[in-house]
Amino acid sequence: MVNVEQLIKKAIENKKNSYSPYSKFRVSAVVVTDTGKVFYGVNIENASYSPTICAERSAISAAISSGERKIDTIIITGDSGYTYPCGVCRQVIREFMDKDGKIIIAKDENDYKIFSIDDLLPNSFSKEDVENV
Ligand code: THU
Repeated sequence: MVNVEQLIKKAIENKKNSYSPYSKFRVSAVVVTDTGKVFYGVNIENASYSPTICAERSAISAAISSGERKIDTIIITGDSGYTYPCGVCRQVIREFMDKDGKIIIAKDENDYKIFSIDDLLPNSFSKEDVENV
């Protein structure tokens, strides 16, 4: 069973690893997979701007690179209020999360909102569409 409050605290603590010298906007994400493993990610910016990777995709990349394929929970926390995932990250989350998965947008461990991927990306395009040609 995932201890959400504890993971939110760790996510907030891990914002220190954000590489965001340009925007100064730190974001941290924690992914919990169906095998119970935990992966961390931060936003990683670039002088050329467009290669910037968001915290969500950093954490998901770490999980997938370790052989994981299903995300049960992703916690996202940023420097201003509730930090919602961008459109690109929502699509990437969609690839690896079922409709019962949890996307937790956290201000802190006492103040967070829980969404499903269908909440944040309704009527989405997914691997089922590609597989059903
Ligand atoms: N960012 C994320 O890491 N995740 C989000 O969901 C929104 C935006 C990052 C990208 C960039 O480094 C900074 O926040 C400002 O856009």
